[in-house]
Amino acid sequence: MAVYTTHSAEETRRLARSFAKKLGAVRQQRALVVGLYGNLGSGKTTFTQGLIAAFGVKEDVTSPTFVIEKIYKIKGKGFSHIIHIDAYRLRSADELKVLGWKEIEAESGNLIVVEWPEHVAELLSRGHLILRFSFINHNERIIEIDYGSPEKTKRKTKKETAGAP
Ligand SMILES: Nc1ncnc2c1ncn2[C@@H]1O[C@H](COP(=O)(O)OP(=O)(O)OP(=O)(O)O)[C@@H](O)[C@H]1O
Ligand SMILES: [Mg+2]
Repeated sequence: MAVYTTHSAEETRRLARSFAKKLGAVRQQRALVVGLYGNLGSGKTTFTQGLIAAFGVKEDVTSPTFVIEKIYKIKGKGFSHIIHIDAYRLRSADELKVLGWKEIEAESGNLIVVEWPEHVAELLSRGHLILRFSFINHNERIIEIDYGSPEKTKRKTKKETAGAP
């Protein structure tokens, strides 16, 4: 577990870019799911902006709150798409199932970033990377990243796949 303090939105975006570099080693049979936990305004969308920019996407990343899900085509590190999901307005995992969660989660080229993952917790039972955002003051945020989780996710995914009918 690594704990970072950032002092500006730009610093949070930079942290996301270094996080993106560490994802390079991750190879798995399903999508890599990243859950961004933390209160309103704690920097989840800001971090996602940096992450998406790290994969060379030039377009502006706005909060997908009103569309729930946005898909960006990317190249590199074995990923073909970043899918940014804001589950804030979702009241159950069923609502994300309707948006094709099963299909996007089965695709190993997908990097899925979920804000408010606790709203769709049952869909994340296969394991996901956990990032926690805390608001300290106007410009300061604490961001905890569990870099160890991709391996755990990988092993779990393999075991589950092996045991699946
Ligand atoms: N250190 C910092 N890191 C990230 N954002 C910061 C920081 N300092 C100030 N900010 C500002 O805080 C706001 C963070 O908003 P952001 O949309 O990223 O939060 P969020 O966690 O996605 O909230 P929500 O739950 O509403 O989606 C932005 O306006 C950003 O400019
Ligand atoms: Mg947000």
